[in-house]
Amino acid sequence: MTKNIPPINSKIPHLPFGDHQDSPFYGRDIISVKQFNREHLDYIFDVAHEMYEMVARVGSFDLLKGKILASLFYEPSTRTSSSFTSAMERLGGSVIPINNVSYSSVTKGESLPDTVRTLEAYADVIVLRHPEVGSSALAAKYARKPIINAGDGIGEHPTQALLDLFTIHEELGQVDGLTVTLMGDLKYGRTVHSLARLLTLYDVKLNYVSPDLLSFPSELFDEIAATGISQASYQSLSPVLADTDVLYVTRVQKERFEDPVNHEALKGAYVVTTDTMTDAKEKMIVMHPLPRVWEIDMAVDEDPRAAYFRQMAYGQYIRMALLAMVLGKA
Ligand code: CP
Repeated sequence: MTKNIPPINSKIPHLPFGDHQDSPFYGRDIISVKQFNREHLDYIFDVAHEMYEMVARVGSFDLLKGKILASLFYEPSTRTSSSFTSAMERLGGSVIPINNVSYSSVTKGESLPDTVRTLEAYADVIVLRHPEVGSSALAAKYARKPIINAGDGIGEHPTQALLDLFTIHEELGQVDGLTVTLMGDLKYGRTVHSLARLLTLYDVKLNYVSPDLLSFPSELFDEIAATGISQASYQSLSPVLADTDVLYVTRVQKERFEDPVNHEALKGAYVVTTDTMTDAKEKMIVMHPLPRVWEIDMAVDEDPRAAYFRQMAYGQYIRMALLAMVLGKA
């Protein structure tokens, strides 16, 4: 008698009858925002919104009971690692936490491919943060279970971009028609790279505000220009603040400056204060992927337009949606 069991080299995890194996993300890796179209985003946001309502109503539920997530972090994280853990646990699943690889066999020289091949023997899905660009794609090549990219060096952070877009959607009710200003370290900031790419799926205007040293990568600028999106670069926020609907701030990284004098001279120009907010629209939001160091004054936290702590909280619902989707339960 033939058994309905997926082949051993299949990406498809074992699932009982009645699950949503027709979901577009079932058994898939989440590596780059380039995987998503508008229809996917609408679907993900609908599921995330349902997760939000379910958590508000019942706290946790057993959608992923019996499923195991391996959380593999080669770089520090507070939000991404803990929100994936809470997402899995709120859905009734459990987590193998490897949030400090120095206590794992990585210190004995074990390669990334061997590490993911080991973890997938015990888990149904692997979340990976790694300092090298392309590391999640490499892991996905070797893993039969879904890999979710939780940040690959200065490359991408797709789940952050999804939660960023979900934040805009929830807070402002729409994405089309908005002016989005990205400010700070636009060169090395992987969150802004992923978010800018996702925003090309909408009718938006993009402004880039940064010092020359940390300007938006020209290849990415050209890639976005090819989609027909309107973009402009500035060295100061003043010319664009009054028209901005979403001000997305990132950390200007001191460690990127060869001469600390340059950093000292520039950093004041990229600090959001209560004075900045007096010139901003009444209906707009300030976002930040966090952690913040000094680039948004703490006094701004009291302003209802300061959305960065709500943004961080939305991450849990997006990650609940993604886990449910790749495991065929959404
Ligand atoms: N936004 C973000 O990725 O935060 P963590 O580094 O704390 O995960």
